[in-house]
Amino acid sequence: MELNDKNILVTGADGFIGSHLVEALVKKGAHVNALSYYNSFNNWGWLEKLENIDCLEDIRVIPGDVRDGHFINKITRGMDVIFNLAALIAIPYSYSAPDSYVETNIKGALNICQAALESGCQRIIQTSTSEVYGSARYIPMDENHPQRPQSPYSASKIGGDAMALSFYYSYELPVIIARPFNTYGPRQSARAVIPAVISQIAGGGKEIRLGNLSTTRDFNYVKDIVTGILQLAECDKAVGETVNIGSDTEISIGELVETIKKLMHSNAMVVPEETRFRPVNSEVARLKCDNRKIKELVGYTPQYTLEQGLAETIEWIAKNLENYKIKIYNV
Ligand SMILES: NC(=O)c1ccc[n+]([C@@H]2O[C@H](COP(=O)([O-])OP(=O)(O)OC[C@H]3O[C@@H](n4cnc5c(N)ncnc54)[C@H](O)[C@@H]3O)[C@@H](O)[C@H]2O)c1
Repeated sequence: MELNDKNILVTGADGFIGSHLVEALVKKGAHVNALSYYNSFNNWGWLEKLENIDCLEDIRVIPGDVRDGHFINKITRGMDVIFNLAALIAIPYSYSAPDSYVETNIKGALNICQAALESGCQRIIQTSTSEVYGSARYIPMDENHPQRPQSPYSASKIGGDAMALSFYYSYELPVIIARPFNTYGPRQSARAVIPAVISQIAGGGKEIRLGNLSTTRDFNYVKDIVTGILQLAECDKAVGETVNIGSDTEISIGELVETIKKLMHSNAMVVPEETRFRPVNSEVARLKCDNRKIKELVGYTPQYTLEQGLAETIEWIAKNLENYKIKIYNV
């Protein structure tokens, strides 16, 4: 399926990955309808800072809420494809507000699927996460790796994926589960480790306050992840499938910090901060993606090395430091 000239709804379009996806879809010639989480300030999040795109002219911005089934039903009419990226995604906040994670990540996915079924939508891409696997029991981790909900966030994403897949099995709704591993890049919030490190260094701090340094992750530049999501959306064979998007590389947070320090010519010291550590059994020790399935399906090949992606991210964060509250722990 080609995406150009299609009517496309992107939920979570106001967020980090969603805003990059909107840019890529406009470039492809799609008609983009961008759901931005409603607030009374009329603030459309990162949609207001898109590159080479006027959010008043080139796309249709729809303020709203995925938790509202009636609303989702209305905005889904006439859509050919839906990318569901709306979610609450911070793990620490999920410890204190799990109810809202269920409402947004599970009920939200249900509302999208129900509305898509009624409107005859041709393709639904549900965005999953590698957090559904919990700590690696073997590496690299393929799509058959057991799932372990080590946080309420993870549990809610497992639930959202399951809800979407159940619509494929029960009603033949053309659902694809795209499962990115850790993603980073311009516009990511400081709740994530890479912006947390870069913003503290760019702010001139001599100390970088962090949590666990020994955990490992498979980090992916946002433009690569967006390419993978789009390739999967266009792939008929991916319907009904769950597909990892990752690089099959692994780096510890400690090594990552050293890499960033080198790129930023910094000699700041890492200082552990108690509040930034996850509860022991909730901490995901290791993640590394087996990306053979997406390679076989669509020939996915990441284009950015970690150093290249970090360099672009550093440049962007340094220029946009006013978006980061460096002195506090951003949950
Ligand atoms: N960032 C990562 O490393 C990563 C990795 C794997 C998967 N993901 C998944 O990718 C998706 C996007 O994540 P992101 O990193 O861009 O996070 P993000 O927080 O920047 O984006 C999520 C967006 O959802 C919106 N949202 C929240 N509640 C909503 C509601 N009730 N109604 C409508 N919109 C609502 C928010 O306004 C936000 O902009 C999520 O589904 C996440 O689980 C992210």
